[in-house]
Amino acid sequence: MTNPQPDRILRLINGYWTTGILGAAASHSLFTHLEAGADTAGELAARAGISERGAQTLLDGLVSVGLVEVRDGRYRNTAEASAFLVEGRPAGLSSFAELKLSQMGTLADLPEVVRHGGPLTEATVEVADNPHWAKVVQAIAAQSVPVAVLVADLLRLDEAGEISILDVGGGSGVYSATWLERNPHARATQLDWGPINAIARRLVAEKGLADRFTCVDGDFHTTGFGTAAHDIAVYSHIAHQEGPEDNVAIFTRLRDALKPGGTLVVNDYVVDDDRSGPPFPLLFASEMLLKSKQGRTWRQADYQSWLAKAGFEDISFHSTPSPATVVLAR
Ligand SMILES: C[S@@+](CC[C@H](N)C(=O)[O-])C[C@H]1O[C@@H](n2cnc3c(N)ncnc32)[C@H](O)[C@@H]1O
Repeated sequence: MTNPQPDRILRLINGYWTTGILGAAASHSLFTHLEAGADTAGELAARAGISERGAQTLLDGLVSVGLVEVRDGRYRNTAEASAFLVEGRPAGLSSFAELKLSQMGTLADLPEVVRHGGPLTEATVEVADNPHWAKVVQAIAAQSVPVAVLVADLLRLDEAGEISILDVGGGSGVYSATWLERNPHARATQLDWGPINAIARRLVAEKGLADRFTCVDGDFHTTGFGTAAHDIAVYSHIAHQEGPEDNVAIFTRLRDALKPGGTLVVNDYVVDDDRSGPPFPLLFASEMLLKSKQGRTWRQADYQSWLAKAGFEDISFHSTPSPATVVLAR
């Protein structure tokens, strides 16, 4: 038996180094410059308009975490960095890396937040029209692209004809854009705050899909979803900000808003019933403790019981190319 060593704990304690290096590299488009052929600290510094000392420090950090490779003094992106950190990729995460670095200071409140059991000031996610969302929805849109593609395949949306889609808290409009692009007969309605809908309208219009996309401005706790009006309803990355009672109430209203045989698509970080994993959903709960009154990452059993209470009978769980799980309910 080998003796425990401190190395892993030291890396965990200093985990913020990685957040800093990734966020700084993303903000100076380092991965994009590497992809375009700049392969030394000097060249990267010149292209990014940063110091050579700074560029070398970022490169050393990125080699350390396995996002950049070095050979004979020349640097290049790993396949992972090339797929997800170069700007302009559909599933790109560089603006998310910048966002997380900008939010890092709030974690210093965590010891007090844990004692208190929730946010110390106003709860971020419950504040109406919070400007926080404008940054978040654009930065996380790329994470929903592979999920929207997976669901389109699972539900064969391309061949579904004249369907009506409702996206509750749709954010950037990424589900609508992906599905309207794949099905030219589909129409989509998004319910979100006014300023967020303005962003979604712009992004969906940039893809030439504005004529089949409608937005309703309002609070999804109180704004009507319609009755037997939609074939597909989406509730993506919302359940983790809500408590059990609100989730059941919203699922019940979504069941009523769906046509008979319609499908509710929930996408979220779902925790195993024995709380032993998966790692990302277990860690994400701290974010909701910091930012919401009742949010947390919920277990598969929670979704199963809430959806059954809301009148759904056929409930299935599907892993996705992201740390989130898709729940389909009919
Ligand atoms: C985490 S984002 C998810 C965006 C999108 N569904 C996705 O998965 O990419 C949460 C979204 O819900 C919206 N939202 C949060 N609370 C809301 C409320 N009470 N009423 C309407 N929209 C709300 C936010 O504006 C934001 O667009």
